[in-house]
Amino acid sequence: MQVSIVGTGSMARGIATRLLAGGHAVQLIGRDKQKADRLAAKLASNGHQSPLVSAASTPEQLTGEVVILAVPYEAAQEIVRVWTEELDRRILVDITNPIDWDSFTLVTEPGTSAAEELAKAAPPGAKMVKAFNTTFAKTLVSGNVNGQTLDVFIAGDDPEARATVSRLAEDGGLRPIDVGPLQRAAALESFQLLHIGLQTPLGTEFGSAIKILA
Ligand SMILES: NC(=O)c1ccc[n+]([C@@H]2O[C@H](COP(=O)([O-])OP(=O)(O)OC[C@H]3O[C@@H](n4cnc5c(N)ncnc54)[C@H](OP(=O)(O)O)[C@@H]3O)[C@@H](O)[C@H]2O)c1
Repeated sequence: MQVSIVGTGSMARGIATRLLAGGHAVQLIGRDKQKADRLAAKLASNGHQSPLVSAASTPEQLTGEVVILAVPYEAAQEIVRVWTEELDRRILVDITNPIDWDSFTLVTEPGTSAAEELAKAAPPGAKMVKAFNTTFAKTLVSGNVNGQTLDVFIAGDDPEARATVSRLAEDGGLRPIDVGPLQRAAALESFQLLHIGLQTPLGTEFGSAIKILA
């Protein structure tokens, strides 16, 4: 499958690593084309076949039927509002954690979530899925924590879109967990706020993962 990732930072690298490991084609879209090219080269040099990675700087060139928004929440809000034609009818993956770092609280109002707010602002044909917000970037690069498979919690109102994103995660060696409708994104975002806040007390240096054991 062809997947476009908007953003060229830590999460773009982590998610692209897993997608490429799963045999999918990745397009990187960066507002700075040079950064996209550099990340594409780094991914290719890590043993992934370079034809699977391409880089671009404008939304008109979007090739993915799945588009992952690997940017801060505020940037994602702007992107879904502005790239109306380009994003319509695609599966959009929101990975954001909408945190006010000064107060260490979520910037979203109680009862909603970044994913739901982005879905409201997105073109009507876009299918919004929340995923990857609880997996830290460096754990995605390695694909595990101390040999343990990462859980990826997936929420969305369209069952086929959830299944598609689940398959992408699974192909990359991760364990997708379908948590149901997009309304559950609020819980995932609160979950990760707690997880981030525990990094210093636990000394886990953003290398931990939230996992369901049974
Ligand atoms: N880091 C994690 O472990 C982690 C885990 C789960 C979820 N997340 C979420 O993942 C998202 C990305 O985080 P990250 O750690 O990858 O951040 P990052 O390394 O700082 O990368 C952010 C990317 O977003 C781009 N960007 C920023 N503002 C933009 C704008 N207004 N328009 C277009 N592009 C813009 C940046 O472009 P430039 O380089 O040109 O500035 C950069 O490519 C955030 O929403 C975060 O909450 C992060």
